[in-house]
Amino acid sequence: MNIQELDAAPNSRPIGVFDSGAGGLSILSELQKALPHEDFLYFADSAHCPYGERAPAEIEALTLRAVQWLEAQGCKLVVIACNTACAFSLASVRAAVGIPVVGLVPALKPAVQHTTSGVVAVFATPVTLEGSLLREVTRQFADPAGVKVLKLWHRDLVPLVEAGHADAPQTRALLRELLTPLAQAGADALVLGCTHYPFLVPAIQAEFGDTFTLHDSGAGVAKQTRALLEQAGHLNPGAAPGQIKPGQVTLYTTGEARQVAEVAAQLWPGDIRVCALSLPEEVLA
Ligand code: DGL
Repeated sequence: MNIQELDAAPNSRPIGVFDSGAGGLSILSELQKALPHEDFLYFADSAHCPYGERAPAEIEALTLRAVQWLEAQGCKLVVIACNTACAFSLASVRAAVGIPVVGLVPALKPAVQHTTSGVVAVFATPVTLEGSLLREVTRQFADPAGVKVLKLWHRDLVPLVEAGHADAPQTRALLRELLTPLAQAGADALVLGCTHYPFLVPAIQAEFGDTFTLHDSGAGVAKQTRALLEQAGHLNPGAAPGQIKPGQVTLYTTGEARQVAEVAAQLWPGDIRVCALSLPEEVLA
C-alpha cells in the first residue's frame, strides 16, 4: 500500500469495489456502514463469473483489468471484494496500479479464536483453498494453536447466489449435504471464504442453527479501508449545504445488466444503479 501515491485532493472521489459477480455486495454492505459518506463504484465481472475454477493467470489478468478500469474512473482506492481474485493476484495488482488496493484474507483468525472443538472449516473456491493467502493465515493462526482446518467447496454455490437462489430449497438441500459431514467431523466454526457465501447465512442457520459460528472478512476489510483513508486524509467529509449527498452506489456489470439488476435488488436493500459495461476481451487470449 502506498498512500503517498494518492492525488492531492481525492476526498470526494468514489471507492472502487470489485468482484467476479454480485458476491462483493456482502463486502460493500460493511463498507457502506463504516463509510456512509462515500460514493462507491462496483465492478461485477458477471460475464466471466464464476472465477473459482479458472487458471490463476486468467484470474490475475481479469482482476488487473477490473482494477485498472476502476482506477481510470477516478477511484481513490479499490477493494478487491473477491477472495478468489486475491488468492494469487493481490501483490501483482498492487504493483501495477497507482492507488491503494485493499484485499481479503479468509477470516481464519476469528474462527481459530472461537473454536472450542479445535476443528474449523474453510468454505471457499478451489483457487482460494489452494492460494498463498489461506496457506499464510493457516501457518500464522491455526497451526500454532493446533487447530485442524478442513476445506470445502462446491461448484454450484456461486451460480446459485448469482441466480438469486441464495435461500432456495435446492440451496438448503445442497448445504445440508455439504455441511453435515463437517458437523460430524467436529467443526464448530465455519469460515465463509468467498464473498458470495455471506448471502447463504440465512440458509445455513435455518439448517444448522448455531452448530457453527460463522466468520467472514467484511467488517475487518471495512475497518481497514476506513483506517487507510483516514490516515491519508482522504475521507469524504459529506455534503456541504446545497450539494448532492454522497453515498451513491453504481454497479457496472460485464454481464446482462437487467438480470444483474434483478439479483442486486434481492441482495442489496438500498438504492443501486446498474449499468452495462463492455470491455475488450483480448485480456483472455
Ligand atoms: N466472490 C468470489 C470470492 O470471494 C468469487 C467466486 C467465484 O467467482 O467463483 O471468491
